[in-house]
Amino acid sequence: MLFSSRFGIDLGTANTVVCRPGRRIVLNEPSVMAVRVNGHSGPPVRVGHEARELVGRTPVGLTTVRPIRDGVITDLQSARSFIIAILHLALRYPWERLRPCAAVGVPAGATSLERRALIEAVEEAGVSRVELVPEPVAGAIGCGIDPLQPRAHMVVDVGGGTAEVSAFCFGGILATRSCRIAGDEMTLALHQYLRQEHQLMVGELTAEDVKIRLRDAAAEGQPLVVEGRDVLSSRPRLVTLDPKDVADALRPTVDGIIDALTGCLEDLPPQAVGDIMHEGVIAFGGGSLLAGFEQRLEEEFGFSVQHAERPLTCVAEGAALVISMPRVIAAYSAR
Ligand SMILES: Nc1ncnc2c1ncn2[C@@H]1O[C@H](COP(=O)(O)OP(=O)(O)OP(=O)(O)O)[C@@H](O)[C@H]1O
Ligand SMILES: [Mg+2]
Repeated sequence: MLFSSRFGIDLGTANTVVCRPGRRIVLNEPSVMAVRVNGHSGPPVRVGHEARELVGRTPVGLTTVRPIRDGVITDLQSARSFIIAILHLALRYPWERLRPCAAVGVPAGATSLERRALIEAVEEAGVSRVELVPEPVAGAIGCGIDPLQPRAHMVVDVGGGTAEVSAFCFGGILATRSCRIAGDEMTLALHQYLRQEHQLMVGELTAEDVKIRLRDAAAEGQPLVVEGRDVLSSRPRLVTLDPKDVADALRPTVDGIIDALTGCLEDLPPQAVGDIMHEGVIAFGGGSLLAGFEQRLEEEFGFSVQHAERPLTCVAEGAALVISMPRVIAAYSAR
């Protein structure tokens, strides 16, 4: 067989991860690029971490763009230039760009049009063979689960733009539900809480940082200090937050994910529900790291909820493994 370079890609709303076989993460960057205003067709000025630094502070003439929305491509042109830039960073050696072959994660609930758009964007970026694999299946494989087993498994993937709950068994998806309430909505809820309850205006990156710090603060019982601008006086101000109050403010955002999980369980045959009650559910995606997330699910449903060992990279790791699993591709290929 001719040499070809193989890798898995998780093109997420918030983060893009590229992994080589053997769980070798070669790129993990925010799905953001900075482009010149009215210059979307040209190459991006900055990509990934460097572009994210500019969110909320772009100089005149530049704007930041997130080419993936709710886990799917909405603007083919900006997605293509983002993927080209990402692959340029990930595949550093010329021989790696020879006949590249990629397995790319796609939300299980994506439409055929959204799938086509993804294949087209990745092929146009120079990848000669593209396989789409449902993200829940890729994430599960990244956690060491065999999706061809005659046993039902359920995963909850809470990303930036979407939360997806899926159950699969013996090479087929049994049920899947998704909701648009995920990490971004949690950040927004926190932003609104700070404004309404503490009269504090903060940027998107600060609100996200508070949300991420909440997990450790809640575990240690430590207060959270946030710096922002007073809504009335417009002056800088520090606010000390009780982690319990912040967790309460974020509680309603988890309700949508609970509804999705309830719906997914309703769609399952009883035998499959039995498997899931017995084995529990695996949670991954950055949004599932929200403080108290797994405890809330356990309280609501009574089964155990385990986090993936690497919740932010297991989809890309699984996708990289899938590329050498022809039976899994044949069973789950999401073209
Ligand atoms: N400790 C944490 N607590 C709460 N949220 C977190 C934590 N760490 C990361 N996040 C959130 O996780 C989200 C990103 O997760 P992830 O990288 O899995 O999303 P994605 O795969 O890019 O998105 P999608 O799957 O929706 O396309 C962001 O909203 C981020 O704020
Ligand atoms: Mg994701």
